[in-house]
Amino acid sequence: MKFGYFDDEHREYVITTPKTPLPWINYLGCNEFFSLISNTCGGYSFYKDAKLLRLTRYRYNDMPYDCNGKYFYIKEGDKVWNPGWKPMQTDLDSYECRHGIGYSRFTGSLNGLKAQVLSFVPVNDTCEISRLTLTNETSVEKTFSVFSYVEWCLWNADDDMKNFQRNLSTGEVEVVGSTIFHKTEYRERRNHYAIYSVNAPITAFDTSRDNFIGAYHSQMNPEAVLNGKLTNSMASGWSPIAAHQLDVTLKAGESKDFIFVLGYVENPENNKWESHNVINKKPANALLAKFDTNEKVDAAFAELNAYWDGLLSKYTVESANDKVNRMVNIWNQYQCMVTFNMSRSASYYESGIGRGMGFRDSCQDLLGFVHLIPDRARQRIIDIASTQFQDGSAYHQYQLLTKKGNSDIGSGFNDDPLWLIAGTSAYIRETGDMTILDQMVPFDNDESVAQPLMEHLKRSFDYIVNHRGPHNLPLIGRADWNDCLNLNCHSTQPGESFQTFGPSEGPVAESVFIGGMFVKYGLEYADLCDLQGKTEEAARARREVEEMRKVLLSDAGWDGKWFVRAYDSYGNKVGSHECEEGQIYIEPQGFCVLAGVGVETGEAKQALDSVKERLDTDYGIMILQPAYTVYHEELGEVSSYPPGYKENAGIFCHNNPWVSIAETVVGRGDRAFEVYRKTCPAYTEEISEIHRTEPYIYCQMVAGRDAKFHGEGKNSWLTGTAAWTFVNISQYILGVYPTHKGLSVDPCIPADFGDFKVTRQFREGTYFIDVKQTGSTQKGVKELTVDGQKVDGHIIPYEKGKKEYHVQVVLG
Ligand code: BGC
Ligand code: NOJ
Repeated sequence: MKFGYFDDEHREYVITTPKTPLPWINYLGCNEFFSLISNTCGGYSFYKDAKLLRLTRYRYNDMPYDCNGKYFYIKEGDKVWNPGWKPMQTDLDSYECRHGIGYSRFTGSLNGLKAQVLSFVPVNDTCEISRLTLTNETSVEKTFSVFSYVEWCLWNADDDMKNFQRNLSTGEVEVVGSTIFHKTEYRERRNHYAIYSVNAPITAFDTSRDNFIGAYHSQMNPEAVLNGKLTNSMASGWSPIAAHQLDVTLKAGESKDFIFVLGYVENPENNKWESHNVINKKPANALLAKFDTNEKVDAAFAELNAYWDGLLSKYTVESANDKVNRMVNIWNQYQCMVTFNMSRSASYYESGIGRGMGFRDSCQDLLGFVHLIPDRARQRIIDIASTQFQDGSAYHQYQLLTKKGNSDIGSGFNDDPLWLIAGTSAYIRETGDMTILDQMVPFDNDESVAQPLMEHLKRSFDYIVNHRGPHNLPLIGRADWNDCLNLNCHSTQPGESFQTFGPSEGPVAESVFIGGMFVKYGLEYADLCDLQGKTEEAARARREVEEMRKVLLSDAGWDGKWFVRAYDSYGNKVGSHECEEGQIYIEPQGFCVLAGVGVETGEAKQALDSVKERLDTDYGIMILQPAYTVYHEELGEVSSYPPGYKENAGIFCHNNPWVSIAETVVGRGDRAFEVYRKTCPAYTEEISEIHRTEPYIYCQMVAGRDAKFHGEGKNSWLTGTAAWTFVNISQYILGVYPTHKGLSVDPCIPADFGDFKVTRQFREGTYFIDVKQTGSTQKGVKELTVDGQKVDGHIIPYEKGKKEYHVQVVLG
């Protein structure tokens, strides 16, 4: 069952009922100012940091779902309604929400009055614009009132939810004309304030929540709105809000626009005041003046669309499969940009007050956005590498605002170092910019011990070499990619953090998965050494990789039909037929095979066949089987979840693409695509009543076969699934993969996929790639020509400065 449809021409998902199974949201903002916005106008805004500079308040765990936002109430006679249906939930004659790329549009109508809202954040300004268009679709004049409403957050969203003894006394506001200023703490140490304004004279306003809503009402029936009259209240402490009242008359057929701007304004420390205790409003007025007419708003909206046109034209596909086209050309890349901006901070499942930027998360996200914004990817790599320690280990998280490692969580997640190689290699393959390797980068942000980035990569590599256990496999530390395999933790008390309790290192617990990563990224490290002329180091790296490959294929790593997952701190196998529960895990099957382990000797196909046989479901591949039914102290959080959820046998979408990529490595296009399809939003749209999360983007987890709600998605938007799926479909299935020598084209597609075209910008060139599938070939390039010239192999030689490449590829 669907709750809307894709409008590919406009790059929108059109939601046709407000009663979606869960709030279906979108993100506004590209640089510094961001908003989350749901299909019923819920959500919140922040400047740069969702925790520290939160502009509007949101209530988590609320009921009904999603109860605060930027709302417009329309009161005509006794009827009060909202264009996005919530919060009043008045039955509307029509409702539509269009989530687009960086904007959302809402249309509601009642009794011949149509209200449209277009919300977006301009590319380079620190505000959100909501243009409200009201149209009288009847043949008689209409008179009604419009009320706006936002609730301010007192900046630090964490403190705002806790520190009431102070916060209920600090709120301060000011009103000048149609602009409401939220200036809490500006008198003392803040140099910023927020504004909410409309480009028309207002009849009245409110800034006290109790006056607007009423102490015993809610957003669903705000007292002042029901009374039809705001009270011009001036908040002093308690809960400041911003609400405007506009009294509107529309002739038959007439339409009027009102432009609302919610802005963040910062003043230089020495220019905070106009006069004694009068805040400097000049930058606020300048901001508002930029968007005070329809023409200016249209221009800003056009600029936003052009910005996205630019990004989304870097990789496009035209195939016979609309769903693939739509995901590749629009939604998958869009989600990659959102994960670039948000990491794992602010979604409807991540509160924005929790973790900072994950070391491994950010490196993996980069794989999906590096082709879109290489310069910003470069900076991101430097920021991440700056939180590495001298021994090659790394802070597991860092804060975007300070760029400092987060000592609460600390280090000891032993896969982290290798992800830095993954991200850097992807950046250099994409851009050819080797200078990044020479850039001096501090360790733990200490410039006095800075070393070239290449030295950081060496230390990443050596960290694994120097931290091996009894089987010569990498030690796991606190956990590897699977944050819930806490093999050294042994926690027995509720509330202890699985990630930080217990020793950060143990001499016994090992990870086969990190071994697979080491093969993949150790070889990429060796390639970088070669490019720098360090042939001995390259040879050493390859020797280490070969040793690891042998261990993986020995009895220590190979279980007979699949790869073992790990060894616990007693030296017992995890993810082996010897175990009672958790006999097979997805991660080492996907990663060892995509790294090429066992491809020649048959283990690769066998491991993938075992995945299909034991882990596959209609909704994707589960992370492990059988699910843990009891808590295993020696394993940690993985066994803490009820069977079928999250890391305990959920379908963790992130590592489904690893299996799909692995299938392309062994040349099985049909199966690779089947794995791609099962978690692909454009396909699961059809079962939205089961899947429940947004059908245009990936979620982190779908409940596995053991769960009560098998097939139900959770944790949408901020997941490494976005990047890995884009890598999978664009680089492995469609097969256009950036190498140091140039673009490689080596697709692996289903037998019935048909011909397709890819247009790819790569370094200075645009590549027009035409792929012909002869018969039912799934993989194998029979012929490749570049501008009419035959080329051996499947790499298009890169020519510096060349602008256009016309490439014909024949599979067969
Ligand atoms: C979740 C993991 C997540 C970790 C972050 C755990 O509770 O299950 O998916 O990576 O928290 O710290
Ligand atoms: C989500 C975390 O953000 C990520 O770092 C981790 O790899 C996965 N969960 C799996 O545990």
